Amino acid sequence: MAWYAQLNMRILAIETSCDETGIAIVEARLASGTTKSIKVLANLLISQAEVHAQFGGVFPAIARREHAKNIVPLILHALKEAKLSKKLKHARLLTKKEDSVLTKIFHKESELFEVFKDKLLSLKIPAIDAIAVTSGPGLEPALWVGINTAEALGALWNVPVIPVNHMEGHVVAALLTTDNKQLTTYNIQSIQYPALALLISGGHTELVLMPSKGKYKMLGQTRDDAVGEAFDKVARMLGFAYPGGPEISKLAEKAPPHEKLSTPLPRPMLKSGDLDFSFSGLKTSVLYAIKKFETLTDRDRELIAKDFEDSVTEVLVAKTLTAGKKYNVKEIILGGGVTANKKIRKVFAEKVAQEMPGTKLSIPDILLSGDNGLMIGVAGLLRSRSKKHIIANGTLKLAKSVSPTLAELRKRK
Ligand code: KG4
Ligand code: ZN
Repeated sequence: MAWYAQLNMRILAIETSCDETGIAIVEARLASGTTKSIKVLANLLISQAEVHAQFGGVFPAIARREHAKNIVPLILHALKEAKLSKKLKHARLLTKKEDSVLTKIFHKESELFEVFKDKLLSLKIPAIDAIAVTSGPGLEPALWVGINTAEALGALWNVPVIPVNHMEGHVVAALLTTDNKQLTTYNIQSIQYPALALLISGGHTELVLMPSKGKYKMLGQTRDDAVGEAFDKVARMLGFAYPGGPEISKLAEKAPPHEKLSTPLPRPMLKSGDLDFSFSGLKTSVLYAIKKFETLTDRDRELIAKDFEDSVTEVLVAKTLTAGKKYNVKEIILGGGVTANKKIRKVFAEKVAQEMPGTKLSIPDILLSGDNGLMIGVAGLLRSRSKKHIIANGTLKLAKSVSPTLAELRKRK
């Protein structure tokens, strides 16, 4: 379905792939000419970071429990903000058919079903045209909470449910621009193909070629830890709680600019000749660097954080530019929680301008770099392909051809 056919289409979006419950309500608009734009009626987030901090990482069963606790109240809050929540005088009674459909959907979540009935049956059906929901990749127990709630809303409001790939959501986040201070409208920049996406989050590190609209080809990925995971683990070694990325970033900024670690950390796979990554060895090198100090001072911590951040940045930039030049891309898109990192943003901007001056660089606004419902809503609007029974897929891939090596790609040509 084309965007125009759905003008003013309203989507309620649900994101529960990891430790953030995100709910957004977005409406498709035309800005000027053919520029696509959206109106944001609500964009809400409840982070579980503090709950998981004590465990040093995200626990799937706890993430599931927290999503189940937060999702219905957050949907109600979003509907209220969007002025779409009208109370009925008397709560609706479920028909036998509706009751059996919902019972089936929530067969493993009886508590969530009770809250769902209690809160949503007393509302008038809102003017929502579809529900978008993250179907993967992510933690399956967490994904199911979002999917079940989306399917139940779809059944209750008689609207289609659109499954969204979380990583496509991160790509879409980079396309959203605004000068609107209230963040109630965004323009959607069109992608210039061929484009290259570097997706860096807590669970993923992927270099994906986008030859044309909606097509993805995996060029390289991490062989072990994801970048965000490495940030989190190194932060933990330096004594910081989950999520450690922002802490490392702050620490690195404090390091004196001209001082360096006496033995610099490695730049993993920099010269590997392919487009894959590996961050697990770098993490071990940080551990050895820490062990070298009898007592670790704040300055030592800052220098380690800086060199770690520099190493990651150098490798990410080098591989992205190699791929960008090889495939002659017109646009480079960064996506995922790690794009909140100021150093990474800065070095990418400098290097792309220097080495690929004709190439557009799109990086999400810091507010949209982490997981959020808005990116899922917009990805849903752009795709608009609904599905009857959605299945959580923890390892859902954007690209079908998984990780061909450069040598393989050369052979195929
Ligand atoms: O995309 P995201 O919000 O969730 C996943 O889909 O995984 O990414 C979360 C990751 C975490 O590992 C977090 O430490 C990292 O993004 N992160 C950062 C920064 N802010 C968040 N990493 C480096 N520097 C940051 N400023
Ligand atoms: Zn994410």
